[in-house]
Amino acid sequence: MSGGRALASQGVRAVPSLMYLERQPNFSIGPDDAENETAAAPLPSGAPAIAVKSAQNTAQSAQNLVPQGGLFWDGRVNTLQGQALEPLLNPLEMDGGSVERVARRLRSAPYAARFTQLFGPQIFDRADNAVAEALFAVARYQIEDPSFHPYSSKYDAWLEGKARFSPAEARGYVLFRDPGGANCAACHLDRPDANGLPPLLTDHQFEALGVPRNMALASNRNPRSFDLGICGPVRTDMKHATPYCGMFLTPTLRNVATRHAYFHNGVYHTLRQVLDFYDFRSTRPQRIYSHGAIDDLPAAYRANLDTADAPFDRTPAQGPPLTASQERDIIAFLQTLTDGYRPGR
Ligand code: HEC
Repeated sequence: MSGGRALASQGVRAVPSLMYLERQPNFSIGPDDAENETAAAPLPSGAPAIAVKSAQNTAQSAQNLVPQGGLFWDGRVNTLQGQALEPLLNPLEMDGGSVERVARRLRSAPYAARFTQLFGPQIFDRADNAVAEALFAVARYQIEDPSFHPYSSKYDAWLEGKARFSPAEARGYVLFRDPGGANCAACHLDRPDANGLPPLLTDHQFEALGVPRNMALASNRNPRSFDLGICGPVRTDMKHATPYCGMFLTPTLRNVATRHAYFHNGVYHTLRQVLDFYDFRSTRPQRIYSHGAIDDLPAAYRANLDTADAPFDRTPAQGPPLTASQERDIIAFLQTLTDGYRPGR
């Protein structure tokens, strides 16, 4: 999708979902709390073994400090208000110009009278107050309206014992959790949390997966330009945090089958392509990268690449962890994460 003044500007990243952010932790760099997660509530009986995440050989694992939380692909803001402000002002998106200009727009909007009713007659006296209240209203809407977090997928029904997996979904679920194979659940957590709340299908941590460069992005025409996630250039406060360059936030997989652009740079458009990436990145790199090797992470940061967690710990000699039909089974499972399931379908 295009934005900007003439609706002709291309963004630099895939648009992350606004759903399921109501439990997103703030950005922090701290101890890997995966151990606490395994103390979470049990799965229904018959569920396969837990997938594991090791992160042994990455540069930051000496202290085992991992970045986690925050919003956007690089965790650069913590609040939904801060999140909502950026597209309003971003010249490549809504191009609002300035807080003053956005406030003038609010003042002449059809709902301006209701806005004054709600926030008081002085609300438009100061542009920053008016915009802050508008952003607060948007954030409350996202928190309070159940449509942003319905937890109504087949997988939720299955967790509650109210649905059965098809044979393909059941096979896919076993593979999703297989610690020596696809290992998806190591990062895309699939169990209710310690408070018994339904899983968000993310551990909220950052990883450098080495996703291939998206040559369709105008910003990538310059061979010296790289999107380094936490290190910028979009995020600007952690430019020198080299152990985290190339890392992006693990997104939720809820409703993932309804999305059209995958990974931070939107390089893939089908789940089949995503599954091929996990299957072949380490085992058949020539099938993933146009020149046969990692192409969107400068050599200086290659040590940050995740080569420890399955399936990325495999060698070409060991071969891909999944067959084509196993990839299809995992996709069948991912489709159970789409909201709006009605029993009997
Ligand atoms: C080591 C942690 C880790 C493992 C293991 C892992 N993922 Fe991911 N996943 C991530 C991260 C991090 C991203 C975002 C990477 C980026 O955009 O650069 C991601 C992104 C995705 C996306 C794109 C979602 C979107 O909205 O763009 C899909 C789909 C996905 N993973 C599915 C899977 C599946 C299926 C498996 C198992 C085969 C798996 N993941 C294993 C960490 C992991």
